[in-house]
Formats: sequence, structure tokens, C-alpha cells
Amino acid sequence: MSFVWGAATAAYQIEGAAQEDGRVPSIWDTYSRTPGRVLNGDTGDVATDHYHRWPEDVETMSALGLGAYRFSIAWPRVHDQRGIDFYSRLVDALLERGIAPVATLYHWDLPQSLEDAGGWAVRDTALRFAEYAERVGAALGDRVHTWTTLNEPWCSAFLGYASGVHAPGRTEPAAALAAAHHLNLAHGLACQVLPGRHSVTLNLHHVRGDAEAVRKVDAVANRIFLGPMLNGAYPADLLEDTARITDWAFVHDGDEAAIAAPLDVLGVNYYSPTQVRTWDGGAPRATADGHGDGAASPWVGCDDVEFVKQPGPYTAMGWSIDATGLTELLLRLRDEHPATPLMITENGAAFDDRLDPDGRVRDPQRIDYLRDHLAAVGRAMEEGADVRGYFVWSLLDNYEWAYGYSKRFGIVHVDYATQERTWKDSAGWYRDQITELPDGP
Ligand code: NOJ
Repeated sequence: MSFVWGAATAAYQIEGAAQEDGRVPSIWDTYSRTPGRVLNGDTGDVATDHYHRWPEDVETMSALGLGAYRFSIAWPRVHDQRGIDFYSRLVDALLERGIAPVATLYHWDLPQSLEDAGGWAVRDTALRFAEYAERVGAALGDRVHTWTTLNEPWCSAFLGYASGVHAPGRTEPAAALAAAHHLNLAHGLACQVLPGRHSVTLNLHHVRGDAEAVRKVDAVANRIFLGPMLNGAYPADLLEDTARITDWAFVHDGDEAAIAAPLDVLGVNYYSPTQVRTWDGGAPRATADGHGDGAASPWVGCDDVEFVKQPGPYTAMGWSIDATGLTELLLRLRDEHPATPLMITENGAAFDDRLDPDGRVRDPQRIDYLRDHLAAVGRAMEEGADVRGYFVWSLLDNYEWAYGYSKRFGIVHVDYATQERTWKDSAGWYRDQITELPDGP
């Protein structure tokens, strides 16, 4: 089987058209409008205007030679037929160019009305998600190649409900754990009603440090999802570590079985490894986990763990560049879940790109990053990891959540004043990889 080369985006980050065709507000509309939450007060109201410029963007994908495009469907759009029609046209255009549509159902844009009713902290949201999945599955299921239920549920639960650096901005550790469970349940229930191939995308953390600190962080970052999804149960040590925070009564009989719905492929997002150590209570606790010092921690149940600053070089996000973590992570998945095929559903880097007077965007650092990480995937494949594809994050520069438009992850540059798209050097380089290495790295 040949390797799938793709690029990824997400609805709120690229679409804009926030008030068009019956779209209702999402938690990111609310959050981005709340003073102090997002850098420069940036919102996704216009973003890259992909809602109108999608034909041009599909042409770009075709010119890149992509075999697949990973996008997300905006839950706030699809209660209106015009919203469904938008995705239907997009899917048809992709198929006409031989690009497999890989559709994510939830990339963080919860309808605000559901947050007002309790959000992911309440069970009903999972049931509503299953209804939404059924509706979209019925409309697009004959054409979507692979469904991804959730994107990075760790971020939805712990950045959204514990540290509050993402929408809805709550800082309630017990609610964050409930949210993680309801996201898991939403995934399982959606798999029951979606036609075709099923996947979920996790931002698995590759954690290094002393064994006890690694175990704790691994439990609440990774095994809280991998456990019920792939082994049919929450890990016992996670329940113990968090017993002071919640009794987990929100897990009902039968939930874990529902969450363990068979997966056709597991999506892995990887950017950087995580370095931890057990805190001895002495010097102030290090919190260099990329989520802001002095703020509430997303690391529920890890009060005695320090997040240690790692050696450079760094991307513009301040994330250390280290591709060895990706190989190690894939080999761990090979060992622990050998029957589950893998897909790199996001990998990429932000740098301070600029359009040069000659109209070129020179981004040699991004090319180096992508080359090193593709080689890291190749090493894991040689050692038996079953990796079926790779999606670069991102096709286009876009709205980087709390960082607004300040961070550019695209292989295609976007001038937000004119919406003009310009290939960065990395885009041409990526196209050449696809041509030269059709069967993967
Ligand atoms: C993960 C998220 O899925 C995506 O939305 C985000 O832009 C990238 N990582 C980069 O932070």
C-alpha cells in the first residue's frame, strides 16, 4: 500500500465567514472576543477566508500533489443546509482532483449554546455530538475517505477547562477530567453512527524524565485517551492520581466499552517532546510546558511534577526542535498497540517568515524541520511502526488560537491584508518529496 501525503487545516483557523450561511457562534467566537484572551484580540471572523477561497486552495493542494487533505467540519455550521453544502462541494472538488478527504468532526469549535448548557463537562454534550456525527455522516459518508472524530481532545479538556488558555477558558480541574471522559464518550458514540473508516487524532506527549514524573504525566496526557479507546478501560494509576479531584462518577456502566469502538487508524500529532522531573518542593516549581508561567496548570493530578525547559533550537512557538521524540513515540505505539495503524495527522513548525521583496518566502528552518521529522518517521517505519501517512501542519498560515495570527505554520504564506497566497520555499520542497518518495519516507 502506498503512503498518503497530505496537509492539514481546521475550520475555525482558516474559514472565516463567521456569520454566514446560518453559522451559529462557537466557544472560540466568544473566547476570542473576551479581552485579554487572544493576542491582539485576533478572532477567526475572517481568518484566511477559505470559506470563499476554497477553490483556489484546492488548486494549491492539487499543485502540491497531495494525496489527502485533512480539514475539519464546523459543528456550528451544519445545522444549516448551506453549511453542509459547503463541505459537500469541497469534498467533491477534492475527489475530482484525486485528493482523499479526511474530515475531522471536532477541532475545538463547540457551539456556544452547548457550552452554556455545561459544555464538555456534562454528558449531554457527548450525546449531542453523536447526533451531529450522524447528520454529517449521512450527508458526506459516501465520499469522505476517513473520519476523525476528535482533534487533540487533551487540548479541549485540559487547555479548555483546566488551564483556561483555550476556549471556553475555564479553570476547573474536576470539570477538565469530566470533559476528557465526555470527549472519549463522544468519540465512541460517533464511531457507532459514522459510516466508513474511523480515526481519532491525539497529541500524544513523548515524555522524558524520572520514571514517576513520566508515569504521572503519561497517564493524564496519553493513557487517559489510549486506555479507554484501545484497551477498553481507564488506567488504574490515573484514577488514583486524580482521586482527590474527582471520584469519576461520570463514567457510567458501558461507557468504556462504547469508547473502545474499533479504530481503523490512530492519528498522531507531534511537534516537540516533553521533559519533566519530580518536584522536591524546594525552589519554585518549573512550568516550562509551553502553556504560560504563573497561570493555572493544565496538568491535573501532577502537582509534584516540574516541566523543564528543553535545549534549543526552538521554533517561533518556543518549542524545542527534536525529531527523536517522534521516532520514540511511534516505536512505543508499535510495541503497545501493534494492531493499530498510525497516521501522522499533524507535524510542522512556526517560524517568523516574511515575504521578501522578490516575492519569495525563504523558510529553510521549516524545510529542515520537516526533513528531520520525515526521516524520524522513516526510522520508525524501518523498525516496524505501521505508519500509513503524513500530514504537514499546515497547508496555509492561519489563526493559531491564543496566539492569533502572530504564528505562521503554513507551507503557503497568507498576507492577511490581501488574502494573497504565496508558496514558501517549503511548499516546493514538500511537493518534491511527494514526487520523489511516493511510498513514504
Ligand atoms: C495542534 C492543533 O490541532 C492545531 O489546531 C494547531 O494549530 C497546531 N497544533 C499548532 O499549534
